[in-house]
Amino acid sequence: MNIQAPKGTKDVVPQESGKWQHLESVIRGVAAKYGINEVRTPVIEHTELFARGVGDTTDIVQKEMYTFSDKGGRSITLKPEGTAGVVRMYIENKLFNEAQPIKMYYLYNPIFRYERPQAGRLREHHQFGIEVFGSPEASVDAECISVAVEVLEKIGLKNLEVKLNSIGCPECRPKYNAALKAYLEAHKDSLCSTCVERLERNPLRILDCKNDECKEICRNAPHVLDWLCDDCAGHFEKLKKYLEIIGIKYSVDPMIVRGLDYYTKTVFEIVSSDIGSQSAVGGGGRYDLLVGQLGGTPTPAVGFGMGMERVLLVAQNQGVKFPEPSPFDLYVVSAGEKAYDAAYKLTSDIRGCGMKADCDHMGRSVKAQFKYAGKLNVRYVATIGDEELETNTVRLKEMASGIEETVSIKDVKTRIRE
Ligand code: HAM
Repeated sequence: MNIQAPKGTKDVVPQESGKWQHLESVIRGVAAKYGINEVRTPVIEHTELFARGVGDTTDIVQKEMYTFSDKGGRSITLKPEGTAGVVRMYIENKLFNEAQPIKMYYLYNPIFRYERPQAGRLREHHQFGIEVFGSPEASVDAECISVAVEVLEKIGLKNLEVKLNSIGCPECRPKYNAALKAYLEAHKDSLCSTCVERLERNPLRILDCKNDECKEICRNAPHVLDWLCDDCAGHFEKLKKYLEIIGIKYSVDPMIVRGLDYYTKTVFEIVSSDIGSQSAVGGGGRYDLLVGQLGGTPTPAVGFGMGMERVLLVAQNQGVKFPEPSPFDLYVVSAGEKAYDAAYKLTSDIRGCGMKADCDHMGRSVKAQFKYAGKLNVRYVATIGDEELETNTVRLKEMASGIEETVSIKDVKTRIRE
């Protein structure tokens, strides 16, 4: 039998987990500075949440969800994105009663999308994201972008671009949609079949199509920014101003529309040229209508999601160095069964003092134990043989200097702590 991981999923093997932990600790550190608290929502939600929240004309809802009936006959879906669950949590836990804005982040949030796997695109990926509820101000939008950029910079990523756009609100978007539709109707024969369908239900999504002919047609399409109402235009100007105040470089890209239906006003993506076609390491925007659409008191909100695997992929492609795992303080080599018992106890005592230690677990010869210790990053190796057993000592070798001395077993911890 040869059981493999499902297509589009990835194990985090022991040699890789240090990178993940580093990314997680950077995220926690940055989030703490902005006063953002962690939240966790279930991996499963009722399917209706996504159908209503993400939008039933989106690719995610139409084609990509992992949906099943549970034993009680309920339609359940594995989270295809992080925002809808957090909005449900906000409403269900009456978080609108807390002081606003209320800022939250999620980390290592498993997201499932039935997509065709390729470099940077998985069927299960993990997102770090933040969601801020209660403020309509563009200062919060800029803060979200700032969090994302700071995390990516602290990890050491380079050559990233922040792309900004505004896709308006229920006042101005319908007028823009009509203009866009009129333009695209004239090129209907050259659009791909998916975009012909989109033309009726969601023309904005055509701007995001990867098909070369569609892209070419969209190049001359009307720009949403020319159709914004005063409120949306003013909001966008403020966002740009706040980004300039805090020194975040951006470019305005009217082709950024995002693949989820809930956005109003601000949308943005952070892209890297170092990971191929799946270039967005993060993306987000404002969704002022979603809380109301999901049954809550209308509440403005903004946030983003960042694919953690993509961040690590960019880091790998750019040769970013991650911190090495901490060295072992002590490895205890022993000769014979009695000496092994003493080695086992010494290892435990050293761990009890908060230090990192190990001894043999393979019945290896003394030579092989030394060889193994040589492969670990070890500060000290202690050796216990018959002579040391009799005198309650160890031969303690400092690996960096090669200096070796006999030390009383009870003094080992103080010696290696020095
Ligand atoms: P999204 O753009 O669909 O937005 O996903 C956010 C990020 O997750 C992407 O920029 C990308 O880095 C990563 N990602 C998406 N799909 C995959 C995949 N198949 N494999 C690997 N990584 C992937 C959202 O999900 C929104 N909920 C973001 C948001 C939060 N907007 C407001 N608040």
